[in-house]
Amino acid sequence: MSIAISTNKDVFLLNTKSTSYAFGIDDQGLVRHLYWGKKLPSAEEFEMPQLTEVSTNDPVYEITREEFPVYGGLRYKEHCLKATFADGTRELVYQYCGYDVEQGDACEELILHLRDAHYDLLLDLHYKLYPDYDLMERSVVVKNQMEEPLQIEKIHSAQFHIPYENLNFSNVHGHWGAEQQRFVQKVSYGKVVIENRRGISSHNHNPYFILDRDATETTGEVYFGALRLTGNFSGVVEQTPYGETLVQMGLNSHDCLLTLQPGESFTAPAILCGYSDSGFETMSHNLHRFARENLMGEGLRPVLYNSWEATEFHVNSRDQVKLAQKAAELGAELFVLDDGWFGERHSIQNGLGDWYVNEGKFPNGLEELIDAVKEQNMMFGIWVEPEMVNPKAQLYQDHPDWIYHYETRVTDTSRVQYVLNITKPEVKEFIYDMLDDLLTRYDIDYIKWDANRPISQTGPQRDVWYKHIQTVYEIVTELKKKHPKVLFEACASGGGRIDYGILGIFDDFWTSDNTDACDRLYIQDAYSRIYPIKAMRAWVTDCPNFLSQRVIPLTFRYHSAMMGSLGVGCNILKFTPEETELSQKMIRQYKEIRPIIQEGTFYRLENPSANQYFLYEYLKEDLGVLFAFLPQSKVGHRGTTVRLRGLDEAAAYVLHTSKGDIVKSGSYLMYHGLEIRLTGDYASAIIRFEKPQ
Ligand code: DGJ
Repeated sequence: MSIAISTNKDVFLLNTKSTSYAFGIDDQGLVRHLYWGKKLPSAEEFEMPQLTEVSTNDPVYEITREEFPVYGGLRYKEHCLKATFADGTRELVYQYCGYDVEQGDACEELILHLRDAHYDLLLDLHYKLYPDYDLMERSVVVKNQMEEPLQIEKIHSAQFHIPYENLNFSNVHGHWGAEQQRFVQKVSYGKVVIENRRGISSHNHNPYFILDRDATETTGEVYFGALRLTGNFSGVVEQTPYGETLVQMGLNSHDCLLTLQPGESFTAPAILCGYSDSGFETMSHNLHRFARENLMGEGLRPVLYNSWEATEFHVNSRDQVKLAQKAAELGAELFVLDDGWFGERHSIQNGLGDWYVNEGKFPNGLEELIDAVKEQNMMFGIWVEPEMVNPKAQLYQDHPDWIYHYETRVTDTSRVQYVLNITKPEVKEFIYDMLDDLLTRYDIDYIKWDANRPISQTGPQRDVWYKHIQTVYEIVTELKKKHPKVLFEACASGGGRIDYGILGIFDDFWTSDNTDACDRLYIQDAYSRIYPIKAMRAWVTDCPNFLSQRVIPLTFRYHSAMMGSLGVGCNILKFTPEETELSQKMIRQYKEIRPIIQEGTFYRLENPSANQYFLYEYLKEDLGVLFAFLPQSKVGHRGTTVRLRGLDEAAAYVLHTSKGDIVKSGSYLMYHGLEIRLTGDYASAIIRFEKPQ
């Protein structure tokens, strides 16, 4: 049993393999946080601190550690829930009224029932425990059992109390082409807010928190949580004057208003959270394994070829067939036809919404290309951007009222497109039918679902900031029921949609339009902190890179992309025989190590050298791979010592180095380490190793 309840039934101790989380109910019915950290043995030892007012300016509610602070009374702190009742009352007063425990397959769940003191409004606080992963999932369900509607002005899914000051907060910042730029900042007094208001989750910040006490990869305390939402989110971190740090996360209240009609309920997106006393690595390992085993679809992700960077909008059957044949020659398993195949899509100006095959580009239909792809034993994938429409498209001419808009305002275009109000049943049906028809009519194995602009001018409805992404989830979930073998890739102008919400809905995730192999090392490092490697799609593309103008050797480009789900986006028809041969070799090698990469345990290794090496290890049972990168050799051209991790100390490992095989013990490799020296700029190496049976 992971849920221990005290004899008085007023303290709940939630245990995972090595952590505990505790809260209790006090004599006023408040749900009060008691503990989060290393595992504790018993619920009986906790004592509920007496509530005493510090001063009239520090009222008790302000200093009480509440699990789910609501707006009301003498509470001025960040609240998780603010709602307005039909009579205008804007205060919530909850009372504890019992709990339930539910047993799932891999989890146990505690549901705490709260009820408003006057209104027929229920709040259920959910705590789902995944003991084996050292993770917990928190969320809240609001149930309106009144005769009148309730307006929710703000709902955050949970509040966490961390009993320290001066923590480090880390997340990412960025923009298009520069997603996942890691930052770390000291938390001091005042609030740190991260959010997105654009209708997506992730170019700018990402919906998670990591708070640590000067942790390293393998040491120190780390508290973390990841929100399961792809739309507008907000997170607040606050060091209070009372000696602790608070963190909340949930739906962004910016311009958002949810109305719960009588009998309706709202389930806030869950936060997957955990505590590690052994640094960031444990956090990543627990999240990665949980995501792989519980959220993501099964199987290895195919090596893909995508023709976007090669042809952009200049798509035609003849060239795509040639590219497909060449992709097969290189060893690709999936050919993805990107933007430009449909309607009058010759540039960004037109086509979106008119999802018929362009006859000029495909005079013999899409079948000609699909047949050629299938003849090569490859899977076939196709790009769509279903939530959007160009003003010139026939769809817009027929249904100008289908876009988000205000009747009295001019709607902004971005990338010459509008966003469809997919929360309208008829628009949702149109998108579902269009995709269902495409998947039924053609032999398609993979859909790349793109979304290239933020949402704006949503019209009078203020709940669409939430409902829009829920509708995307629903359409994909429904399509997958009918077409279970089809893989769906989530893309939003690069990595605009990666989070723990979409991770359980789509199968593949485009990390960034920035395919510069060197920039990618930073992006991938930050991404790997929270997201599993199997969810990190990475392509090898042409040089000079379209963004950085950098020229990087093909080997380095492959090695960088082989750190995730490998793809190729080059104009492969221009490959020299040497590039073809190298690509074949790299793709062959990737397929051999793919289970270790996509399903193994991932380690960000320390680099003790003055030269900036990037060192990563993947381990799956007895097989391992080490990646070493040196983007720029500096004065001294020093080597580095790679201390591997996670090995069996007593076992002997065979390492296949460029100079031949060497045998070393696990303890030697972990504590002494392996000396490696790369020279020159953009040097890289992959060393495979194994523990022989
Ligand atoms: C943005 C994506 O990130 C690219 O990979 C490509 O699909 C383009 N959109 C196509 O318009």
